[in-house]
Amino acid sequence: MRINITTLPGDGIGPEVTAQAVTVLRSVAEVFGHTLEITEQNIGGAGLVASQDPLPPDTIHSCLASGAVLLGAVGGPAFDHYPANLRPETGLLRLRNELGVFANLRPAICLPGLESLSPLRPDLVRGTDVMIVRELLGGLYFGKRSTEGPLGSRRAFDTMAYSEPEIERIARVGLEVAKGRRKKLLSVDKANVLDSSRLWREVVTRVGKEFPDVELSHMYVDSAAMALVSRPNRFDVMVTENMFGDILSDQAGAVVGSLGLLPSASIGGKVGLYEPIHGSAPDIAGQDVANPLGAILSGAMLLRHSFQLEAEAAAVESAVREVLSAGHRTRDLAEKGDSPVNTHKMGHLVAAQVERTRTATI
Ligand code: IPM
Ligand code: MG
Repeated sequence: MRINITTLPGDGIGPEVTAQAVTVLRSVAEVFGHTLEITEQNIGGAGLVASQDPLPPDTIHSCLASGAVLLGAVGGPAFDHYPANLRPETGLLRLRNELGVFANLRPAICLPGLESLSPLRPDLVRGTDVMIVRELLGGLYFGKRSTEGPLGSRRAFDTMAYSEPEIERIARVGLEVAKGRRKKLLSVDKANVLDSSRLWREVVTRVGKEFPDVELSHMYVDSAAMALVSRPNRFDVMVTENMFGDILSDQAGAVVGSLGLLPSASIGGKVGLYEPIHGSAPDIAGQDVANPLGAILSGAMLLRHSFQLEAEAAAVESAVREVLSAGHRTRDLAEKGDSPVNTHKMGHLVAAQVERTRTATI
């Protein structure tokens, strides 16, 4: 099969972790007999530096002509003073919009035997396997916004707005995902305060009736945040609006041990977009210490969701599990006494493990 992707390494640690995801994809292609074609393009700060645009037209064209897009990270202090429409993050938001990817899947799994990576007690975190389905093209990120008034008494606002069709389509994704797992869907909102959440709850409940085998429940976002740390292993699939999903997914990352481990898939549009959920981590950029596993696991999601290569995706995921179980740790995961491996080494260990597992099963 031809696996044609656009990579957007972006800023900070983005290029380092993307390079390792590519190393692993290359070994998958070789072992399983696929052709991997990669076009690299700029986004975020890298786009601003190269062509004063956080999402250059070439990038959009390349992404739309590819089977999938793999992104590293965007943003950094060098761009903090840029006007809102030219911030690196705007490039990412515009890209999500151009691709039409309204559903963002963020799995957070506590791997068996790796409970000690979590800051929580092992008995609390053991067995955690939650899938956050985050709405990605609505809410505060895309609502009407403005800063107005004279200096000294300015006023700024952002609007959380959702239409019924927007809620319906993400509810359906959440319900479908739940149907394929343990058949429990939790919808997270703030319906005791927000109108947009009341509509959200009403619509999710209505769509839920089409899925009688999925047990649907609702929770306010503040209680959900508490439950996610006090009993994370009770969750299965969670569906929520854009901003709540952004916050809860970082929290889920911390619960299972490190934000660096978490991948994501943005789907439902013209072309799928895959990225680790961590940011550009400018403080450790260029030092070869970042954890590439979130990016590598995003590569696995890319194989699964955009190319329907389930065995290949599973091979990457099991290689990551093997490498972690063998005790290899990047700095973010290291405990006292461990000598951490660097970003490159971690990528090569996973790639080698993919090759080994595959050879053993042929
Ligand atoms: C994420 C990030 C982005 C978001 C930023 C970089 C725009 O935090 O993917 O979670 O808020 O969606
Ligand atoms: Mg985030």
